[in-house]
Amino acid sequence: MIYSVQSGSPLRGTVLCPGDKSISHRYAMLAAIAEGPSELRNFAASADCRSTLRCLRGLGIEIRTDGSTVRISGRGLYGMREPVAVLDAGNSGTTMRLLAGILAGRPFSSVIAGDESLSRRPMGRIIRPLSLMGARIRSENDGLPPLYIDGCDLQPIRYSLPVASAQVKSCILLAGLYAQGDTAVEEKIPTRDHTEIALKYLGATIWHEDAWIVVEPHPRLLGAQLDVPADLSGAAFFIVGAAIVPGSELLLPGIGLNARRRALIEYLAGAGIRISVQNKSQSAGEPRGDLLVRFDPSCLGNPLPPIGGDLTAALIDEIPALSILGSQAGGLEIRDAGDLRVKECDRIAAIAANLRAMGADVEEYPEGLAIRGGQRLQGAEIDSLGDHRIAMAFTVAGLAASGETRVRRAECADVSFPGFYEALSGARS
Ligand code: S3P
Repeated sequence: MIYSVQSGSPLRGTVLCPGDKSISHRYAMLAAIAEGPSELRNFAASADCRSTLRCLRGLGIEIRTDGSTVRISGRGLYGMREPVAVLDAGNSGTTMRLLAGILAGRPFSSVIAGDESLSRRPMGRIIRPLSLMGARIRSENDGLPPLYIDGCDLQPIRYSLPVASAQVKSCILLAGLYAQGDTAVEEKIPTRDHTEIALKYLGATIWHEDAWIVVEPHPRLLGAQLDVPADLSGAAFFIVGAAIVPGSELLLPGIGLNARRRALIEYLAGAGIRISVQNKSQSAGEPRGDLLVRFDPSCLGNPLPPIGGDLTAALIDEIPALSILGSQAGGLEIRDAGDLRVKECDRIAAIAANLRAMGADVEEYPEGLAIRGGQRLQGAEIDSLGDHRIAMAFTVAGLAASGETRVRRAECADVSFPGFYEALSGARS
């Protein structure tokens, strides 16, 4: 599908963002290995989270969906069954990496495969630590999917993460549930901690020792009712849209504000963007609140603060949206973002190529970008490369561009934000 967008009306009113993708994956997997029923509310309807549910069904887990409520009959830590077919993780790196951690310690064989984009993403980063635990997990293609797993008894490890990755950390912690002793993971750069929060909430013993996270094996996890907050990374596209389109004012209710994710809000407020949080609350250890964002032309005069080091890890999924904001403000420098090259596409190259297609001045580095500010974008033909965050970021760029912007393979927004284009036209009408 080609989505055509032009500048024009402001973004106003209330936009409901889907359930948080990262949290939905974790709640579904943990509910599957918990004892008894769980009810997950506001579960992400995104294609990625549907992939997780599909894989869990393939492992013998009974799941019923009713709108955005998902009911999972947990079979306990040892209850998954050997799949009869290849588990299809679709486009979802989180599904593949986290599920591999669980399956490494189960006494059966399984294969997890993915679509064309996922089949190009590095799995060596989980194969190495899982192998150190004694797992029998292999790729026949130089660390790329599919993953072939012959589950066996696992040994605990102490592992210092060589890359800042919540998926790798979570994979090891989940494998640690099946190990014969405490498993510890060190993260020098903090990443989202939804796995740790959910594990603790459902009954696991998990704690911090400085930068180490330690998990005790063989916990008794109990099914629960869990309410998923709305997705801050999805909201980011509307926040940027409201910040760059004159006259905009948007309310985004119930957005997840996990301490390791909300760097976006602090970053934007620090850059002078008119954003505020109201009605704060908390559920299952995950904070949330309503975001209010308003256009203010005076905020766009200065460069955005540079993004590098720990901040890059904290904003990793928001960089496509922030790049568009940077081009409309006084510019943006992004460093230490090499991992963006192995996301759903090479996001550094995709941002640079598409911003240039819109007439912007961008310099591309091996691990980052420099985007010159104050540029009037021109409508262009955008190649989303089938990457949801590129498609949504450049749809938002089209709101501030002269003429028509046409986003190719725009339907990939469904991977994290089903109904994105409808929500956008609703906010513009
Ligand atoms: C995610 C972690 C991040 C993020 C991805 C979701 C998660 O990936 O980019 O969209 O849910 O754990 P990495 O762990 O590869 O950094």
